[in-house]
Amino acid sequence: MKKKKHIYIINGPNLNMLGKREPQMYGSTTLQEIETDCRYFAQDNGFELTFYQSNNECMIIEWIQNADGVADGIIINPAAFTHTSIAILDALKTVRCPIVEIHISNPYQRERFRHISYVSQVATGTICGFGAYGYILALSSMLNLLK
Ligand code: DQA
Repeated sequence: MKKKKHIYIINGPNLNMLGKREPQMYGSTTLQEIETDCRYFAQDNGFELTFYQSNNECMIIEWIQNADGVADGIIINPAAFTHTSIAILDALKTVRCPIVEIHISNPYQRERFRHISYVSQVATGTICGFGAYGYILALSSMLNLLK
């Protein structure tokens, strides 16, 4: 039997607060609900899913490093680290699988400091501005890349 594709979704700081956090910006869906929707999507489409969240940059870097050779694709919402973390960019440069960047909001409609994304340098593409549904769009784009 063919080995199932394994997709990682990595979430950065404060995304554990979705649902409570600035609902006018990020909506009312919790990260737990996003994970559940992603798991249904994984079941329906026959791939394996690892879903992570941390407020800690170091953890995120370790998950990325450990993904090399294990994950077939990485979807990442680095949250505020998008705009600051050269370390996360460098970690992503060490993995050989496709990377899709996702944001719930559209950072380009927001403050200027959110217009810079280090991660975009290594991402095949970015999905932003579609709310929580962006995670399903990101998964579907990743599956298309892995075909
Ligand atoms: C975010 C956008 C970032 O600018 C912000 O710092 C976040 C969430 C998003 O999903 O829209 O924490 O990545």
